[in-house]
Amino acid sequence: MSTRAETIRILERPFGAVRSDIRAALPQLGVLRTPRFHKILLANVAAVFLATAACALVVLKLGGLSGAMSPLGVAVAIGAVAAVAVVPVYAVLLRLALKPIQILERTAERVERGELTARATPSKFADPRIEQLTRVFNRMLDSTAADRERLREVAARAFQAQEAERMRIARELNEETAQTLATLLLGVGAVRRAADAKTQDELMEELRQEITDLTERVRGFARGLYPPTLKQLGVVAAVGAHVRAVEESSGITVEVEGDDVRGVLSPEGEIALYRIVQDALANVVRHAGAKQARIRICRHDSGVEATVEDKGVGFDLATAAKSPCLGLLGMQERALYVSGSVTVQSKPGVGTRLRVRIPDVKQ
Ligand SMILES: Nc1ncnc2c1ncn2[C@@H]1O[C@H](COP(=O)(O)OP(=O)(O)O)[C@@H](O)[C@H]1O
Ligand SMILES: [Mg+2]
Repeated sequence: MSTRAETIRILERPFGAVRSDIRAALPQLGVLRTPRFHKILLANVAAVFLATAACALVVLKLGGLSGAMSPLGVAVAIGAVAAVAVVPVYAVLLRLALKPIQILERTAERVERGELTARATPSKFADPRIEQLTRVFNRMLDSTAADRERLREVAARAFQAQEAERMRIARELNEETAQTLATLLLGVGAVRRAADAKTQDELMEELRQEITDLTERVRGFARGLYPPTLKQLGVVAAVGAHVRAVEESSGITVEVEGDDVRGVLSPEGEIALYRIVQDALANVVRHAGAKQARIRICRHDSGVEATVEDKGVGFDLATAAKSPCLGLLGMQERALYVSGSVTVQSKPGVGTRLRVRIPDVKQ
């Protein structure tokens, strides 16, 4: 295509399209990508050159001075000398002015490389805005480091809990179940060797009773590991069954109210809600000193909401936040994992209310 045809084609294009062409081409222009130090230095030196040359030209013209060189040539030469003379001064001043930003950049690079404790040192040449930016930047790094440390603690506690659970299962299987089975085996031998039918009947009855007890214990143990009602009857029924066991062992009375929320949550959402309510209730038993508690599980516009409330001793949230509350953090992490949330309200002497929201399966 000829240059003329190309020019006409460009002129006929809508202005917006031409503007976006220019925008797309700009980053490819090397000069725009030169470091900011050089850009500012160049702009300042150019300004000095133009201003000095212009002044010199005016003075030469007004003074009517003439020599071997034209006034314009002399003005350009004076401008060039002035521009070259100011370069070192500008370079030093600019380095000092840009140093605080350079410190921020270097710190960000060090953190990115894995030096997580690196922080920006306040520069003597920083203006108040840069000083503020340095403080905010350091605070952001501190809070990221604190979050990372908390997550590490939660993960470490989760691993410890998993190991403790495995030990408990191994002990139950080995010391309780296997030992009872061994005793039953001895019992079977005794039945075989029984002298008469009456003794045999009595031994058989004892064996039957022991097998019934063992079956009940194994079922109870399995229920504790994973509530079977959760899959079959939903989270409200599962919480109800757990609450009955807690009432029996702790002596506190727990009122449970619940909408039918079956099918609202994903299976992960259901187990998260169940475990969080279970942990919150464990906290009531352990810390609240209350005789009563209340659990409500209801349909919420975008999912399910559960509250666990007690009118016990309560606690100061600000004080608790200073020490790592790994139980509460674990609940929050568990809820976050299924895009839910946990909020706690508590006041010393008034009581505690923990609210968990889990979004429905469609969210
Ligand atoms: N229902 C409650 N009543 C009174 N205090 C509570 C209750 N729940 C939590 N707390 C307080 O909050 C702290 C943090 O709880 P949590 O993170 O579960 O840790 P833990 O139960 O292992 O102590 C508890 O040590 C307790 O002081
Ligand atoms: Mg706890």
